Amino acid sequence: MKILVTGGTGYIGSHTVVELQSQGFEVVIVDNLSNSQAWIVDAIADISGKKPVFEQFDLADQKLTSEFFKRHNDLQGVIHFAAYKAVGESVEKPLMYYRNNLVSLMNILEAMTENQIENLVFSSSCTVYGQPDELPVSEKAPIKLAESPYGNTKQISEEILKDTIKSAKINAIALRYFNPIGAHQTAKIGELPLGVPNNLVPFITQTAIGLRQQLSVFGDDYNTPDGTAIRDYIHVVDLAEAHVVAVKRMIEKQMKNAFEVFNLGTGNGYSVLDVIKSFEKVSGEKLNYKIVDRRAGDVEKVWANPEWSHKELGWKAKRNLDEMTASAWKWEQYYRNKN
Ligand code: NAD
Ligand code: WQD
Repeated sequence: MKILVTGGTGYIGSHTVVELQSQGFEVVIVDNLSNSQAWIVDAIADISGKKPVFEQFDLADQKLTSEFFKRHNDLQGVIHFAAYKAVGESVEKPLMYYRNNLVSLMNILEAMTENQIENLVFSSSCTVYGQPDELPVSEKAPIKLAESPYGNTKQISEEILKDTIKSAKINAIALRYFNPIGAHQTAKIGELPLGVPNNLVPFITQTAIGLRQQLSVFGDDYNTPDGTAIRDYIHVVDLAEAHVVAVKRMIEKQMKNAFEVFNLGTGNGYSVLDVIKSFEKVSGEKLNYKIVDRRAGDVEKVWANPEWSHKELGWKAKRNLDEMTASAWKWEQYYRNKN
């Protein structure tokens, strides 16, 4: 069973490739390496013992995408991770985000239709909920006006999928990730932020290893128990496992609708200070941090209601916050020693 993983050398993609391989899938990766590196293909092979096929090109290029699918018309499914994901950058360069994230999706859907490839798993995000009116947030919660062009690309992508499945013979599952963190237990793959990290956990590990001087905690005056903002952090390997479950659901024709949506979260909300405390506990390091003003555009608190994923997908996140922060720290140390 052959699966295309777009963005397969990226953070979540690389972990998913390993899980797919461990469950007997043959994997083809397409990535243009705009936010990842070619050695990750070897790192994946190191972990799994199997080197995935890797093709480097831009999925926003319609001709190259169409030619690729003609060569690989025996695919059983596509997991589409490839996208730009930096919220702040999307505000600066909205058209770059709309072009990359939407054109690549449309190229893939057209090429799938032309080659009778029916199954697509799409990377969506909890960002589509904005600040939900009710917590925990379920898949039925209203989609809020997007806070950024990046968030809007996820909302529009879901709309594109909903419309496409009505006329094409395509099934799609949109997985709405909450906050993926952590790394593979071998520490051979993990998150590789370009430049100064925007996200909390890479900033914590880079500060602890001495690359950054101090972590800024954005706001301690939120309406939360310790005043810092709350998120549903999820281990990247739990997330990767959910993709294998979703792909199998499609191949085994167990979908209830041609377009389905699932939350991928643990159902637990942790504050920024909870994450820092967990990191300090598992690493034995004292983190240099200070409280600063809120970051513009941040929501106060969000965590998932994962009941529908438990019941209908048969998937549940297993790894706790300490396992997440410990694996992120192990990866940071391994990566810095290697380079
Ligand atoms: P990532 O940047 O590590 O991986 C994305 C990969 O796609 C990169 O390797 C990049 O080189 C590649 N890529 C981008 N545009 C491409 C194109 N046009 N053609 C070919 N390759 C291209 O990001 P990630 O954290 O692994 O995220 C994967 C997906 O999950 C993205 O769609 C992202 O929006 C979504 N998502 C991520 C998070 C998160 O916090 N990491 C949360 C919710 C949703
Ligand atoms: C987590 C918490 C920050 C950095 C982003 C995207 C979202 C999704 C996941 C893709 C917040 C605080 C952070 C720092 C801090 N991605 N923080 N100091 O903002 O929940 O979500 O990634 O779809 O769309 O917006 O994640 O890791 O940036 O922040 O205090 O240096 O940590 O304020 O409360 P976020 P994050």
